[in-house]
Amino acid sequence: MNIKARRNIMKMVVAGVLYILICNVGYGESHEIDEIVRNLILDVTNTMYHARFSVTAFLCSTTDDLNNFSEFLSKNYKLHTILMLSKDYFLTLNDFELSHTNFYVFDLDCSASHELLIEVNEKGMFSAPGKWLMLQDSRLSRTSINETHLKNIFGNLSIFPDSEVTIALRIEDTAVKLLSIYRPNLIADLTFEDRGMWNQEKGIQLQNNDESSRRRTNIMQLPLRAAAVITHPNTMNHWEDCQEKRVDAVSKVGYAFTKLLAARMNTTVNFTFTPSWGYKSPNGTWDGIVAGLIRDEIDLGGTGMFITEHRIGVISYINLYTPSRVRFVFRRPPLSYVSNLFVLPFARNVWIATTLFCSFGYIILYL
Ligand SMILES: *[C@@H]1O[C@H](CO)[C@@H](O)[C@H](O)[C@H]1NC(C)=O
Ligand SMILES: *[C@@H]1O[C@H](CO)[C@@H](O)[C@H](O)[C@H]1NC(C)=O
Ligand SMILES: *[C@@H]1O[C@H](CO)[C@@H](O)[C@H](O)[C@H]1NC(C)=O
Ligand SMILES: *[C@@H]1O[C@H](CO)[C@@H](O)[C@H](O)[C@H]1NC(C)=O
Ligand SMILES: *[C@@H]1O[C@H](CO)[C@@H](O)[C@H](O)[C@H]1NC(C)=O
Ligand SMILES: *[C@@H]1O[C@H](CO)[C@@H](O)[C@H](O)[C@H]1NC(C)=O
Repeated sequence: MNIKARRNIMKMVVAGVLYILICNVGYGESHEIDEIVRNLILDVTNTMYHARFSVTAFLCSTTDDLNNFSEFLSKNYKLHTILMLSKDYFLTLNDFELSHTNFYVFDLDCSASHELLIEVNEKGMFSAPGKWLMLQDSRLSRTSINETHLKNIFGNLSIFPDSEVTIALRIEDTAVKLLSIYRPNLIADLTFEDRGMWNQEKGIQLQNNDESSRRRTNIMQLPLRAAAVITHPNTMNHWEDCQEKRVDAVSKVGYAFTKLLAARMNTTVNFTFTPSWGYKSPNGTWDGIVAGLIRDEIDLGGTGMFITEHRIGVISYINLYTPSRVRFVFRRPPLSYVSNLFVLPFARNVWIATTLFCSFGYIILYL
């Protein structure tokens, strides 16, 4: 069997597990999902996010139309759920978990969309890692972007720089404008980013291919709170003067990194100091940085921290920027021409004890 045939079989298996859930409850309106919108949705999932997603679509249309849409997604090997957006039917969003594979499509032209947006917001679903594509037909208004209108819809929602909310404004029959929105903090106004265009022939053309973390580097002086670990009181006097580099080295490096990060984000950072990175006590409470993060007293840990089994469940880590390795350190052997160099690092007694211990351990394990 050649590779192509095998791949086709794999695709058939994948297509086999695609599922449809069309909540066919009474609806009074219909907003068609035509070929253009279908292709747009497919292109956005494939091009903008470079990953396999399961598509959850909140739409209002006829059952035929939704069936066609579902068939289209199945043909393109997309796992999907299609939900009817209707005033008579209130969706419960409790079943949606935050996941890296969630891609939501939302039709803003449905009459019940406003209520659902508020519910989505209350559930915190706009935050990372969910991705949203908001569809809006603005062929009739014929204005390029009506920011007032969009601010009325999204003005009060918690769409922060970590979110991925793209608005697809259909400005012509075969052309769609892509905008991205976020607000730097709760008091700031909505920021609009012009992401580019989509059209039938050329697909998506982005103005800027950088990911959000690179594009959104201005949080408008919203102060951040961080924590650093001090194990020696004198560290307080030497954060930035490069003295006593060996004392609390990790904290001092983290402090400098955090300051740099804050400067890059157009903000300042307020440090609190703690003696511990964060360990779980037998009664289940945490201390140190981890406790601060859990209790929302700090926004980020300003010190590098080991990834441990317990911590993984309660905090999230950014990428590793300091490589760490395990090393065995021993005394440098005196140079010798007469004896075996490899036995010199340790005294004879240490070698004997090590051998005995290893044999003993081996016997215990064997029994
Ligand atoms: C669904 O697809 C079929 C065949 O592709 C087409 O004939 C039909 O008009 C479509 N229905 C809708 C509502 O788009
Ligand atoms: C923009 O939207 C607002 C609110 O929906 C509307 O009142 C206004 O007329 C629109 N402006 C334009 C230029 O279409
Ligand atoms: C946003 O919130 C403000 C204050 O809470 C309120 O006056 C305003 O009507 C809200 N806007 C929308 C579009 O919900
Ligand atoms: C940083 O934020 C302040 C306060 O919002 C703003 O006035 C200033 O223009 C921003 N600086 C840059 C470089 O964007
Ligand atoms: C920094 O944190 C300290 C202690 O929590 C607080 O007293 C101080 O007002 C904060 N400073 C700023 C600028 O937020
Ligand atoms: C849990 O244990 C820590 C120290 O081991 C202690 O400080 C804390 O008060 C305890 N919390 C409760 C709720 O018992």
